[in-house]
Order: sequence, then C-alpha cells, then structure tokens
Amino acid sequence: MDKVTKLPIIAIDGPAGSGKSTVAKLVAKRLNVHYIDTGAMYRAVTLMAIKEKVDTKSETELIALAQRCSIEFKYEEKSLRVFVNGQEVTEEIRLPEVSKLSSDIADSIGVRKHLVALQQKMGETGGVILDGRDIGSLVFPEAEFKFYLDASVEERAKRRFKELKAKGLEQSFEEVKKDIAARDKRDKERPYGALKLVPDATKLDTSDLSIDEVVNILASRIHSKEDIG
Ligand code: DC
Repeated sequence: MDKVTKLPIIAIDGPAGSGKSTVAKLVAKRLNVHYIDTGAMYRAVTLMAIKEKVDTKSETELIALAQRCSIEFKYEEKSLRVFVNGQEVTEEIRLPEVSKLSSDIADSIGVRKHLVALQQKMGETGGVILDGRDIGSLVFPEAEFKFYLDASVEERAKRRFKELKAKGLEQSFEEVKKDIAARDKRDKERPYGALKLVPDATKLDTSDLSIDEVVNILASRIHSKEDIG
C-alpha cells in the first residue's frame, strides 16, 4: 500500500527576542519549506491602526481594520518582505512604536480569530514553519513539530538593543529591557492565544547558543523524525 505523507507543519513559539524569527527563517531555507512570520501579521495590523488613527479600544473598529488589511509575504533570497494592501511595510512594522502598540492589538480576540484563520489557511498544505506565540497551542495544535525558544530577559534585551542600534534607532538598554519584560507579561497573560509551553513542545534556552547552533538542533530533530527533503 502506498504511504501517504503530508508535508509537516513546524511550530516555533517563544517570547520576544528569543531568536524565533531568525532561526525559523534559516530552518525554512535549510529544509526548503515556507516561512510564515505571524508576528509580522500582528505588526501589519498595528501599523495600519496607527496610520488610520483607529480607536484601538474599539473591538468593532479593530475587527473591521483587520478585515480590510490584505497581508502578503514575498520571499527573497535573504529576506522576507511584508506588504499590506499592496504597500511594502517590511521596515516600518519593526519601529519601536509598532512593537509597543502590537500588544494591544494582539489582545483583541476578534483580530486574533481573523489572523489565526488566515494563518491556518496559509499553512494547511503543510511544508511550513510558523513562528509566533500561539502556534503550537491554538493555530496548529496538531503540528508535527513544536519548539519553544526562550532566553533570559537580559539576553533578549541585549539582542534587541543591538538590532535597534544597528538601525540607528535611539532607545536606552534599560528602556529596551523594560519593554521586553512588559511584552512578556502581556504575551503570557492574554486570555485568548496566550504564550505558553505546551506539553508536546521541545523547549530550548537559546541564551548561550549561537544562531547556527539553534538552527542545527532544530533541523536535526526534524530530520531524525522524518525525511522531509
Ligand atoms: O514576534 P513579534 O515581536 O514580531 O510579535 C509582534 C506582536 O504580535 C507581539 O505583541 C506579540 C504578538 N503576537 C501574537 O500575539 N501572536 C502571534 N502568533 C505572533 C505575535
């Protein structure tokens, strides 16, 4: 009898600055699967809320906003470009004010339900890596591979600080650290779609690991269970 093999879904969850997106991008390239940056989708809706001066306290307005945001990813050799309604927002969605407000947007149950449904549609055929907060718990609880990347607040703040500095953005280290701690709290305490370590996920503390080491660990775990080449 023929063996029916569905391409796997790989879920990577973890707090801000744990290295998820860098690692997910590299693992996706190595395994030749698609990468879906779900954080970029929350950021895209946040950026549009700022641009359109949407009342972020109004659930009705937020849902309407999410529904009129058509989010697209374009894959290039070294980068993932993000578009909303045809306009490129790759850089803008990384601005500190977007990072800050994105926690409010991610609290909206209506926005979450809309984005979760889109993510499920994007990943339904398998052969995908998704990174976020609720991938293994809510978006794809049946994912074949689940990882939870973590690192100390100090280490994650160091990474973010370096990134922001390289982009010429002014924020003190203490401020960056405070923002990260505040986002952790929001991510973990949200009533719907909270960040949590599910029992079937492999947890990895990346504080003392290089990006390459984390990529190797994930890729070899995936390869040892299944040949997805
Ligand atoms: O991973 P990130 O920093 O790009 O995420 C941006 C925001 O979106 C952050 O506030 C957490 C939220 N988020 C979420 O709630 N669920 C996801 N699956 C991904 C991101």
